[in-house]
Parts: sequence; structure tokens; C-alpha cells
Amino acid sequence: MYLVLLGPPGAGKGTQAAILARKQKLAHISTGDMLRDAVKDGSDLGLKARQYMDRGELVPDDVVVGITRERLQAPDARRGFVLDGFPRTAAQAEKLDEILVDLDMQLQMIVNLEVPERELIRRLTGRRVCPKCAKSYHLVFNPPRSLGICDECGNDLVQRDDDKESTVRQRLEVYHKQTEPLVQYYSESGLLFTIDGIGSVQQVNERLEDLLE
Ligand code: AP5
Ligand code: MG
Ligand code: ZN
Repeated sequence: MYLVLLGPPGAGKGTQAAILARKQKLAHISTGDMLRDAVKDGSDLGLKARQYMDRGELVPDDVVVGITRERLQAPDARRGFVLDGFPRTAAQAEKLDEILVDLDMQLQMIVNLEVPERELIRRLTGRRVCPKCAKSYHLVFNPPRSLGICDECGNDLVQRDDDKESTVRQRLEVYHKQTEPLVQYYSESGLLFTIDGIGSVQQVNERLEDLLE
């Protein structure tokens, strides 16, 4: 299964992609996570990406397309993937089409998670993440079993630098300008499905799994 999760920042792409990947044995490909890893490593790519990420802007297409192309070539991706946070611009969507043709893979579905803006802001400003395994939590909506500690690996949870309210608003604006037009792009392909992203993590997961069946 080759799948794309689309939706605004905070819609629950990462949360749902992680569950799907585990249950359906898919590669979870998150460009946000890959870029944060590069920042943590202090690589040239990380240094470049960081300037954009801290401002809530998109990292240039050529950078993101390059790392995604490489990731899609790995054997685990061939067995099935869920793309989380890519594509995010029309140029990225066109490149993805080209890459998949080259790799002889075909998208089965693009799922758009719909969540109203007020809820997105609540989700993002209350989010805490594990810097080690990238699992994401919420102080109120999706808390870890013990306060401030990752359920999966026991690491201390942190707040992402770009989850401050001012940066969150900037990311939402960037989403409307640059990413939302992809809904139109994909609806023309006939592969786009929209699901309601409101409700518990579990409820949204059930909607997603029903759709995949
Ligand atoms: P990225 O990491 O992709 O951030 P984003 O799109 O802004 O999305 P988020 O990770 O914030 O949201 P999500 O939908 O994954 O939500 P989550 O599941 O965590 O990108 C970061 C930056 O990297 C970008 O700003 C850009 O600079 C750069 N970048 C990345 N990809 C790029 C690309 N393709 N091109 C260019 N630049 C790129 O959930 C959010 C919160 O809600 C959590 O606290 C979670 O616990 C909670 N939650 C989840 N589901 C529910 C629910 N059902 N009910 C209540 N709470 C919930
Ligand atoms: Mg995410
Ligand atoms: Zn962890």
C-alpha cells in the first residue's frame, strides 16, 4: 500500500501515520522528522533547513525532494509506505509523481485529514514530542502514561521550537497558501479522500482504517 496523508499542521498526520505504519507494516516517511534529525546531527542540510523551520516556513523544494527521493528508494518503502508531510507544494507533488514513475510504484490513496483551525492551535501549542523516537503526545488530549516521559522509550518529552503560538500561526498561513491547493490537485486524480480529523486518536484511526478497507 502506497499512501499519502495530507492536512494542515496539527491535523494528526504524524499520530495516525505512526499507528498505520505499525499495524500495516508500512514505512512511515515523515519529512518533518527527517529534517529534525538532520538539524540534530548538525549536518549542512540540517543547518540550512533549520533557518526555515524555525520561522515556520517551508524548506526549499529541492532539499526536501532530494531526501524524500532517497528515502523512497529504500527496500522497506517498496513494501509499502505512508508519506506524512510530503508533498507540501505543487512542485513537490509533481516531483513525487515523477519519482514514483521511475520507481514503478503507484499511489493508492491520498487521505486529507480535516480539522478546524481553532482545534489545530490547541493541538499544536499543547503538543509534546519525544526527541528520540519522534512519537507525539498532547498535554491534555493524548498524554503519556507518566508525565513528561515517552511511553515507547522512556526519554524526556520536549516542546518543538516551532510549536510556539506565533510560529504555529505562521505555519497555518503557509499551509493555506502553499499546501491547501494540493487538495484540488489530488481531487482531479480521483484518489483523494477526506476524513473528519475531530474526535479521539482512536476514533480517527478507525475512520482511516475503514477507508483503507
Ligand atoms: P512537520 O513536522 O511535518 O510539521 P507540520 O505539518 O507542521 O505538522 P505537525 O507535525 O505539526 O502536525 P501533525 O499533523 O503531524 O500532527 P500530530 O500527529 O503531531 O514539519 C515541520 C517543518 O519542517 C515545516 O514547518 C517545514 O519547515 C519543514 N517541512 C516538513 N516537510 C516539508 C516539506 N514537504 N516541504 C518543505 N518543508 C517541510 O498531532 C498534533 C498534536 O495533536 C499532538 O499533540 C497530538 O498528540 C495531538 N493529536 C493528534 N490526534 C489527535 C486527536 N484525534 N485528538 C486530539 N489531539 C490529537
Ligand atoms: Mg507531524
Ligand atoms: Zn520515544
